[in-house]
Amino acid sequence: MTIQENIQKGLQLAFQNIFNHSVETQDLALAPTRKEFEGTYTFVVFPYLKISRTTPENTATLLGEYLQENVKEVAGFNVVKGFLNLVLNQSSWLDLFTKIYQNPSRGQMPSNGKRVMVEYSSPNTNKPLHLGHLRNNFLGYSVAQILEANGYEVIKSNLVNDRGIHICKSMVAYLRFGNGETPESSGLKGDHLAGKYYVLFDKEYKNEIKELVASGQTEEAAKKNAPILLEAQEMLRKWEANDQETVALWKQMNTWVYAGFDETYRKMGVEFDKFYYESDTYLLGKDIVEEGLQKGVFFKKEDNSVWVDLTDEGLDEKLVLRGDGTSVYITQDMGTADLKYEDFQIDKSVYVVGNEQDYHFDVLFKILKKLGRPYGEGLYHLSYGMVDLPTGKMKSREGTVVDADDLMQEMVDTAEKHTKELGKIEGFSAEQAEELYQILGLGALKYFLLKVDPKKRMLFNPQESIEFQGFTGPFVQYSHARIASILRKADQIGVDYQKADFTGIGSIAQSESDLIYLLNEFENKLRLAGDEYSPSIIAHYLFELAKEYNRFYADQQIFAEEKPELVAFRVALSSLTAQTIKKGMGLLGIQVPDRM
Ligand code: ARG
Repeated sequence: MTIQENIQKGLQLAFQNIFNHSVETQDLALAPTRKEFEGTYTFVVFPYLKISRTTPENTATLLGEYLQENVKEVAGFNVVKGFLNLVLNQSSWLDLFTKIYQNPSRGQMPSNGKRVMVEYSSPNTNKPLHLGHLRNNFLGYSVAQILEANGYEVIKSNLVNDRGIHICKSMVAYLRFGNGETPESSGLKGDHLAGKYYVLFDKEYKNEIKELVASGQTEEAAKKNAPILLEAQEMLRKWEANDQETVALWKQMNTWVYAGFDETYRKMGVEFDKFYYESDTYLLGKDIVEEGLQKGVFFKKEDNSVWVDLTDEGLDEKLVLRGDGTSVYITQDMGTADLKYEDFQIDKSVYVVGNEQDYHFDVLFKILKKLGRPYGEGLYHLSYGMVDLPTGKMKSREGTVVDADDLMQEMVDTAEKHTKELGKIEGFSAEQAEELYQILGLGALKYFLLKVDPKKRMLFNPQESIEFQGFTGPFVQYSHARIASILRKADQIGVDYQKADFTGIGSIAQSESDLIYLLNEFENKLRLAGDEYSPSIIAHYLFELAKEYNRFYADQQIFAEEKPELVAFRVALSSLTAQTIKKGMGLLGIQVPDRM
């Protein structure tokens, strides 16, 4: 049993013996004691006054006395109004530390026998990835790591939207203006090349609208009749009819785009186990429409279109198949959901997609549940908010989008500048320095995007993100590097901290037990982050841990300490902190340096 569980058990007995009342242990919540008071755990008695029938102070004192007497971990207590602050004894801290220090599988829960798919990234192939995709990719990758650490078998998937009118727009513009340009001839990454023509399409489209309006058409008519748009629509029809030339061009451009994406994914440090392509899946789901009609989940209107009525569930009627038998977005997503299940028999399916699609996923999941899908209860939309830059909202059509490649490079450059200014790379080879800038730049970016609750819209501030102080990735990374240097010194002078048992070293300081408390919290936070699909819980935790370590470090001598067993204990505390930071940052997809 953990310390917390022992105290809860003790409280249960106290209620039984003193007040003759039975309470469930899991209802007896313990909170961390506020820093200004002595103690580790605080029990709030206000909700129990009806049971105790005495004042808050009295209730807390009676419970405190009982715990001190009967729970071996509780050394003392103090009462502040209705708050019972519990002081734990030294040996239980050391027992606890020894236990977690010697646990080789800390941070990896045993398998829970469940399989989960995390779909993320899912880009369109007509343009390069942008800032919003960075949030998506970092979230998806991190949540996959967190679920894996929670004992799931995880399949990371990417549903690539490689077909449709948007790609045809890039293709048409390429045919008109491209002069056979290639990534090689232009020096452009393939995704940037496709994006260039997507932007050109839009420019030309606007010009043509202007001309048509000047020649007397209404704006509305002009938007429909612009020749370049008609060409794109014609191209989509040809693609659907499997026209050879069209398909060849489509393949060519997508191949370029994938090469570009691969490079971007590599820089981001994300990866996938399974790719789905919409060109393969866009016709799926029609059989499910049939099934839904038979089961009475869907109904047909006069024009033959098929709908689902979700008014009972607080939504409205929603189209699932057009009257002419063609699919809509949700038709395909129903089919793809089944396909994912057929492929992997997943228990859970997570979709990392921006919150502009909240309604779509709400409807999709309700339908799949109504249809009784075995994975229905395991569906989860990890919805995230938009990312703004200080200069305003990102736009993609006009070509003023914040490009993911550019932004990552800028972060690495800023990390370089910053590190050089602070003189932190003495004795580094050029290669090592370059690696450090990568780690810091990407770390700053990921941490900044992940520390925020995914649901919240956020402002990305590149300058702030790279600071070495405050709630930033580089601050946590720096803490790791500092500890790594302490460990190097410990190894040099032969401190034996690896497999030591610290239960007998006697008295430890508050800053040490505070640190043990937080180190012990790691797996609780990991569980919580998994339950809530929230990397931000890990990011907050690591910041607290790094700060707590700094307090300990300011408070305690390590190598100047005379007793060798205390030196070993403090080095071991440092070592476990470094391991925890490394493991935790790994869950965010962030590397940590050993020197900086
Ligand atoms: N490609 C889509 C977009 O960019 C996102 C796809 C999300 N995934 C899904 N299964 N619908 O908007």
